[in-house]
Amino acid sequence: MAVETTFSIIKPNAMKKNAIGAIINKFESNGLKIAAAKLVQLERSKAEEFYAEHKERPFFGELVDFMTSAPVMLMALEGENAIAKNREIMGATNPAEAAEGTIRKEFGDNVGENAVHGSDSAASAERELALFFEKREICNH
Ligand code: CMP
Repeated sequence: MAVETTFSIIKPNAMKKNAIGAIINKFESNGLKIAAAKLVQLERSKAEEFYAEHKERPFFGELVDFMTSAPVMLMALEGENAIAKNREIMGATNPAEAAEGTIRKEFGDNVGENAVHGSDSAASAERELALFFEKREICNH
């Protein structure tokens, strides 16, 4: 195992539930550290760029509408095996299929409004972190 940095978004539905603290607590209590964080309302063009791989999917417009509908929290998470660990803490993409104790089980509403995003690979983590953070903004612990 190696120390990795992954990218995370607390999505609008979880922000509206006042769940920032509860979600960060899940990361921290599972050994991930917050290496960078900012609260922003995403521009439509930025959300489209971020989700470019889903451009042809029928839910693309809905996904971009949702992600730009309210502020989101962008984070870099650091830790041993952080990419896989974050995905485990988040739970399945569809909250209905997410395991007990996961973020999506507790705070997700449906497959679109599923509370959090997390990078799915080292290549995605690198691309996604670079889209939203300067290298100097990421404080490795
Ligand atoms: P995320 O990890 O942010 O990456 C892509 C997102 O697309 C995913 O989480 C879901 O929120 C969303 N998504 C995936 N499948 C569907 C779907 N069938 N309908 C609406 N949104 C979806």
